[in-house]
Amino acid sequence: MTDMLEGKTALVTGAAGDLGSAMARHLAANGAYVVLWDIKSADEAQSALDQTRLHNGHAAYQQVDVRDRAAVDGAIAALPALDIVCSNAGIVDAQPFLEVTQDNWQNHLDINLTGCFNVCQAAARKMVAAGSAGRIILTSSWVGSIPWPEITPYAVSKAGVNMLVKQMARELAGHRILVNAVAPGIVAAGLAGRQLREEPQYAARVAKVIPLVEPGSPEEIAEAVVYLAGPQTAYMTGSILTLDGGCSLFQFDA
Ligand SMILES: NC(=O)c1ccc[n+]([C@@H]2O[C@H](COP(=O)([O-])OP(=O)(O)OC[C@H]3O[C@@H](n4cnc5c(N)ncnc54)[C@H](O)[C@@H]3O)[C@@H](O)[C@H]2O)c1
Repeated sequence: MTDMLEGKTALVTGAAGDLGSAMARHLAANGAYVVLWDIKSADEAQSALDQTRLHNGHAAYQQVDVRDRAAVDGAIAALPALDIVCSNAGIVDAQPFLEVTQDNWQNHLDINLTGCFNVCQAAARKMVAAGSAGRIILTSSWVGSIPWPEITPYAVSKAGVNMLVKQMARELAGHRILVNAVAPGIVAAGLAGRQLREEPQYAARVAKVIPLVEPGSPEEIAEAVVYLAGPQTAYMTGSILTLDGGCSLFQFDA
């Protein structure tokens, strides 16, 4: 625990999920006031809020769907301040390319990519209006640059996130707003955790592709987010910080 982010207001989307709730806890543990957003009900998000409040008692929860631009704009306008944004909400629903439905494709783009655009643009507008040197941190994925079977819409949405990071970083630098991403590999929780439990062919593939052998943890990703929110990264913008145990280092059976 530090007071490095004392006085900062942080927003985390997808904060009732495994990675988002870890981000909320770790930001709070470093002194930030954290506002947790998720599409889930307040009851479903209660545990994430309680865990965050263990670190910083006055965290808050709001039920917001990141696809709903009017709701996003309204909720961001109502925040008294905004210094750090973690645009993290996301879904994955694996389908082989030949079977991908229009709905599956559109859902990934709407939540994983347009949701980030909605949250990040609304947040950046607020930061610019307030003259705040904010930090915007998106959750990408190692598959934003490396193809992986049966998740074409997801991988394409994360490739879009990577370019959104770079475009925003370029255009917001003049406002002293820094934009970066964390790109997790395979984490034994959240989306990949569910795939590991429910999709035997996914678990079989995963067993072969992590050079550091074990899947990652939400805590490791959350600590990287704290790093991107803190003073050590004041000269870093437009970067995709990959924590994937080496997954993206191509492996060939020797
Ligand atoms: N778990 C992994 O291995 C892994 C790897 C790489 C990247 N990621 C990324 O991490 C992020 C968090 O995923 P996770 O693994 O914690 O999964 P998770 O399912 O535990 O959390 C995702 C959260 O996003 C919320 N959400 C979904 N749609 C939403 C919407 N429209 N508006 C607001 N909230 C919404 C869900 O309710 C859920 O609480 C995602 O962007 C995901 O792509 C995860």
